[in-house]
This record gives sequence, C-alpha cells and structure tokens, in this order.
Amino acid sequence: MKVTVVGAGYVGLTAAACLCHSGHEVSCIEKDQIKLAGLRSGRLPFFEEGLPELVHAGLAKGALRFGASLKEGLDAEVLMVAVGTPARPDGRIDLTQIYAVLADLVEQARSPLLIAMKSTVPPGFGLSVEQRFLQKAAVPLGYVANPEFLREGTAVRDWFQPDRIIIGGSDEEVIAKMARLYADLKAPLLTMDIGSAEMVKYAANAFLATKISFINEIANLCELVGADILPVARAVGLDRRIGGQFLAAGLGYGGSCFPKDTSALDFVSACNGYAFNLLKAVIEVNNRQRLLVLRKLKKALGRLTGITVGVLGLAFKPGTDDVRESPALDVINLLLDEGACVRAYDPLALPKAGDFLPASVFLAGGALDAAAGCHALLVVTEWPEFIDLDWMRVKQLMCPPYLVLDGRNCLPAEELKKNGFLYLGIGRARYA
Ligand SMILES: NC(=O)c1ccc[n+]([C@@H]2O[C@H](COP(=O)([O-])OP(=O)(O)OC[C@H]3O[C@@H](n4cnc5c(N)ncnc54)[C@H](O)[C@@H]3O)[C@@H](O)[C@H]2O)c1
Repeated sequence: MKVTVVGAGYVGLTAAACLCHSGHEVSCIEKDQIKLAGLRSGRLPFFEEGLPELVHAGLAKGALRFGASLKEGLDAEVLMVAVGTPARPDGRIDLTQIYAVLADLVEQARSPLLIAMKSTVPPGFGLSVEQRFLQKAAVPLGYVANPEFLREGTAVRDWFQPDRIIIGGSDEEVIAKMARLYADLKAPLLTMDIGSAEMVKYAANAFLATKISFINEIANLCELVGADILPVARAVGLDRRIGGQFLAAGLGYGGSCFPKDTSALDFVSACNGYAFNLLKAVIEVNNRQRLLVLRKLKKALGRLTGITVGVLGLAFKPGTDDVRESPALDVINLLLDEGACVRAYDPLALPKAGDFLPASVFLAGGALDAAAGCHALLVVTEWPEFIDLDWMRVKQLMCPPYLVLDGRNCLPAEELKKNGFLYLGIGRARYA
C-alpha cells in the first residue's frame, strides 16, 4: 500500500521505517528542516535500537522517502498522523500540531484518503474531527483512531510484536484497509468506536503509571516498617493476576507519555464533572517520589550546600536519549536550588539534556569523570554500564563519605557496602 506518515519523531519514524520493511511504499513528512536534511542522508534525529538499519534499507530500495510538505504525500491510501501532542501547563493536551495537519489536509486533498490518528489524542477528539474538518474537504476523507503503544528503547520490536492493534472506526471498508496495512503482524486486531479506541491508550498508560506509583508507596512503607521492596515486589509480581512488569520501585516515571497522558486524563475527567481521585493520587505520588532524593541526601549528609553530587543517567529510561520529563532534570534542579554542585553523565542523552540544564552543571565525559571529586553519586537511570562500573575505581575518585544513592535499586548493594560505600536504596529498610 501507499502510506504517508506525518511527523518523523519517535513514533512516526518507527512507523514509517517498519511499514516500509513490511512491503509498503512510505512517504514520511517532517516539517523540521534540520531533522529532514539529516533523515534524507540517513541520519536519525534520536537514538532507537534497530531503527537506523530499517531506515537505511528503506532509503536504499527507494520505498521510503522523506518530504517537507503534505503535498508530497497526498497520493497515499492511508495517511498516518504522528505529530506531537505535548501537555499544556494546566494538564490539557496541546493539539495545535494535529489541527495544523488536519487543516492542511482538508485544504490540499484532491483524492480520497484515510486518516489514521497515531498521535495520542483525548477521548472524544476523533468524534469532533468529522464536523470540524472532514466535512469541509473537497474529496471524501475517512478517519480512524489507531493509537500506538510502542515504547522508546524497544520501539522496533514493539512495532513488529504488538500485544494488540486497536482500530477505532465503524466503516467496514476502512477497517479492512487498516487490517491490510498490518497484515503481517501477528496480534489481535480489536475494532471499536473511535472514543473507545482513544480511551484504550489513556487507560493503558494510566494503569501502568498506577502500578509504578503503587509500588513506590509500598516501597516507602517498607522503609518505615523494616521491610525490603525487592523481595516484596518480586513475590507480588509472580502472582499472574498482577504480573511483574512496572513494579520496580524508584524515583518515579518520566518520559514523553506517562506524565502528559495521566495529566490529560485527569483534565478530561474534570471537564466531564468526574473526580478521578485514584489518578490524582498516582500523579501526586510520582511528583513526591523525586523529592526523596533530597530527603535522603540531606539526612545522610546534613546539608547540600557545597556538596558535589554526581548524577548518573539523564534519559528518562535506559535505551533512549529522550529526556522529556526525565526525573533526572528535576532532581538536578532541586540539587542546584539547595546549593549543591552537580556533575552529570549519560551514555546517550548528554547532548539533548545539555539543552535543558543550567550552565553550572558539569557535563562529564564518562561515569568515572562524573564521580570524580563527588561526595555523593546518584543513579537516576539504570543503564547497564552503571551496574557494571569498576566501583573500586569509583571509590578512589570520590570523596568521603562515598555516598551512593541508588534511585533505581539496580546496583549490588551488599558489595558496595562491603567496599566502604555508604549505600542507600529506595524502599529497603536495611539501606534506608
Ligand atoms: N514517544 C513515545 O514513546 C510514544 C508512544 C506512543 C504514542 N506516542 C504519541 O505519539 C505522538 C508522537 O510522539 P513522538 O514522541 O513521536 O513525538 P515527537 O515530538 O518525537 O515527534 C513529532 C514530530 O512531528 C513533527 N511535526 C509536527 N508537526 C508537523 C507537520 N505539520 N508536518 C510534518 N511534521 C510535523 C515534529 O517536527 C516532530 O519531529 C504523540 O501524540 C505521543 O503522545 C508517543
């Protein structure tokens, strides 16, 4: 099939390259001229394992093209919208990028086209599209909600092995077309009305965020009652009704999806006169969790003024260079506010994080460089290379009291303690 994908971000570029790999002919439209120039010469604007190979293969066989304007993709059967839907300060979703694409489409479309909404939009949005946009077009334009569930870091694998494919729409011809688009993927294809499809995405992310905040609450309680969250979470997760994923206690969730999607769902609830109290608590717990770092460091060190803290990990999770809503950025700003000096390092995200961090933060060339001269070392992102660090060398470079605050409970606690570090974890009474 001929497909156009609008937006070459984490979702759009993955969709474009993977659809191309599945045999479709894909035009990917990106308005950012710098990104576009890079993509045309095979340079990706972000890190995602396995994606460069697919993009290069698509370019080489001529089945993947990058374009600057919608005009270059109007001859497709399906047009996928994968532009950004960031949060506004009040929690509402900013739909400006979506509106711009839909308005351009209505104005420029000269042959029938099916719009598949990949971007995350609030439940109810799709229903308004027909009246606000599609009716004004000179040609018939169809619309389906087709929310995306891929995770950064495993995006390519998630695309080819999704747990389910969701199509929101009622027209049988349209659903058949979407089924053809995903014909090679072995996953249940669930069809439903547009509003329900939009809700699936929010409900799934809100539930995962709830699991994270829940385990963080249990972790905080573990410290108070003398328990250890690691065996607790493992045992709870082995219950098949619960499942072990998203039960890692730590400094809370970040990234471009969970924070904005939970806030948006809370906003939608409020707009509909419903107080989603559970969700409000999930968000509050997550915001509070980052403050743990300050509490723990202050308790151990007495003060933070004049203390040097090394921060390991700036991406919101390992496997990506995405720093949007990363807990590390908040934690660093809190440390600076308290008068600490910060040395920061991340294997991939330094260039992106550098744009958001104050100039006073020293951007280190490696984990050992970040540790040099530090009183405390803080692990915010559980990159494998931090777990495998030469900790004896780290100790030689640090200053007393050799504090290691493991914000993700990923380091060998006992070994570090034996080697003279003051080790602190999250939710572990023995290391509180
Ligand atoms: N990032 C994820 O892990 C993820 C997962 C599932 C769903 N989503 C959702 O998918 C959507 C996209 O997310 P993302 O992380 O890929 O965003 P992103 O910000 O990385 O990418 C969006 C891209 O769209 C481009 N763009 C904006 N308007 C355009 C236009 N008119 N024409 C051409 N290009 C345009 C931007 O320049 C940018 O490169 C969001 O709604 C997000 O919530 C994201």
